Amino acid sequence: MQDLPSDRDALKALLDFHVEAGVDLALDEVPHNRFAEPKPEPARVASPAPQNQAARASPASAAPSPSRALPKAAAGAPDEVASLAREQARHARTMEELETILAAFEGCALKFSAKNLAFADGNPEGRVMLVGEAPGADEDRIGKPFMGRSGQLLDRMLATIGLDRSQVYVANIVPWRPPGNRTPTPQEIAICKPFIARQIELASPEFLLCLGGPAAQNLLGLKDGILRTRGRWFTYKTEDGREIRALPTLHPAYLLRQPLQKRLGWRDFMALRRALDAKE
Ligand code: URA
Repeated sequence: MQDLPSDRDALKALLDFHVEAGVDLALDEVPHNRFAEPKPEPARVASPAPQNQAARASPASAAPSPSRALPKAAAGAPDEVASLAREQARHARTMEELETILAAFEGCALKFSAKNLAFADGNPEGRVMLVGEAPGADEDRIGKPFMGRSGQLLDRMLATIGLDRSQVYVANIVPWRPPGNRTPTPQEIAICKPFIARQIELASPEFLLCLGGPAAQNLLGLKDGILRTRGRWFTYKTEDGREIRALPTLHPAYLLRQPLQKRLGWRDFMALRRALDAKE
């Protein structure tokens, strides 16, 4: 490792530098210097060992890697883990049971790097359910979806159509924070999908707002990107055969980066308001 500064301020500055660069998570027990010169390979013995022994004798396989091993449950084949998730999610009869089952579920490796499960926020009996992508740092720390800057913008957008979190229910397609806020992998999404599907089924909202491309594509099976699908009504079908009107819209994090697009978000929220009023 590079030499660490010894005084407190310099250490803090180094830590801040890493956090700013997105390195805000320790995934291993021991630090690794990825910039270190590779050690020279040990000299090879003259006569090669027979094939089956060679594999056993190789330094890589002989010495167990000090790096983090995935917890056993998270290391299963993705299909098996996804069917385990489906089976467990189906068993939940209430939202509380679903949260308890999900909190104990060890099939998604994200659970082991996240601080908290960010299951939901708001009112599960609300007429509207909003589903985003995955928790970020604030959500991970607090254990609820949409707590940071995206959440604040979302609250302001809801307020423009007369709603707040006491009237809507908020969740994500993946309930654990991906390290460094990376996009969840298709595998992670597939493993978590039965849980969000059951959560939607139990909440049984009148309207489902999919925040951003990943939520729209994975919940509604859409292939097109969000800029093509936003603002159009689709049907979300629950496993128990209910049909819910679903509206893809732009993710608030995208709107923070592209403020000119807020007018499109505004149009979508107005469409939701009209739909709510028409059904009252
Ligand atoms: N972005 C999301 O998609 N979900 C959150 O909870 C926070 C940010």
